[in-house]
Amino acid sequence: MTTEDMKTADAQAAQAAQTAQAAQTAQAAQPATPAELTSQVLRAYDDTPDARLREILASLVRHLHAFVTETALTAEEWMAGVRFLTETGQKCDAERQEFILLSDTLGASSLVDLLGHLASREPGATESTVLGPFYVPGAPHRQPGENIGRPQDGAPTLVRGRITDTAGRPLSGAELDVWQTAANGLYDVQDPQQPPFNLRGIFTAGPDGRYELRTVRPVSYPVPTDGPVGRLLRASGRHAWRAAHIHAIVSARGHQPVTTHIFDSENEYLDSDTVFGVKDSLIKPFRPASPEDPADVAYVAEMDFSLAPSPPSSRAPRTPRIPRTA
Ligand code: BEZ
Ligand code: FE
Repeated sequence: MTTEDMKTADAQAAQAAQTAQAAQTAQAAQPATPAELTSQVLRAYDDTPDARLREILASLVRHLHAFVTETALTAEEWMAGVRFLTETGQKCDAERQEFILLSDTLGASSLVDLLGHLASREPGATESTVLGPFYVPGAPHRQPGENIGRPQDGAPTLVRGRITDTAGRPLSGAELDVWQTAANGLYDVQDPQQPPFNLRGIFTAGPDGRYELRTVRPVSYPVPTDGPVGRLLRASGRHAWRAAHIHAIVSARGHQPVTTHIFDSENEYLDSDTVFGVKDSLIKPFRPASPEDPADVAYVAEMDFSLAPSPPSSRAPRTPRIPRTA
């Protein structure tokens, strides 16, 4: 063998070793277990520049992979899930937000609300709960005691109370934006028989923090069930009913607004509200009116609201500006 031959053989051997090593490396990169695959996917998102997005993505991947692994999800089940989410998106339009409804009925909306509340809660502040998809910005401003409903909308009811800060000082000029369904369980935006902004209005607290409004006693009503979320509720054997409530967003300059409800203490769905929105402090009696009450109402409910001061850095209070998604 010549020196030249020896050199060629060495080069060939080196090349073969390189190829074998490359093959081995490729094999090592291919995950052999679910945990290895999860690690590989996590590494792929390691360089996400935004730190919060990186944290959320990593947690999402970990929990999603744990869910798929724990349930030993089959390809058919995965495809059924894809179809379900596709239909959820297809059900959404300017008037309908099926994804929020899905989040609500899975308790995710209430969990986000609870975490925010625990993080920022000032002792004594009114508890918040879900906004729901039927809020409409721009309701008319109403006079103290004005009726936001019509005679055919339900049992005439007086709702009154005080809006204060957490030290009990009246918040003169605070605003109370309320909305609710009629006795047929429908919001104005769902019911062509109701005029726009029926059972909606913004009331202003007087110098003593007092507000007063006339409306109807709220009723239970089912969340929309004609879409994939309705199918999911039926498949789970869950009912679709919300405990009877009046929605309210309370705001005042220099204070944190609160999005909340007044629940009727006699309602049968308080323990099984389909969107997990009930909080004990928000449950109030709607008592029959007595001779001392105004003659035109059948029920009276009292609800005080208390707002925490805004954090020093924030500006004037804002109410949520969310597109209508009934
Ligand atoms: C509502 O109270 O208006 C509501 C909340 C969550 C889902 C559907 C409706
Ligand atoms: Fe509601």
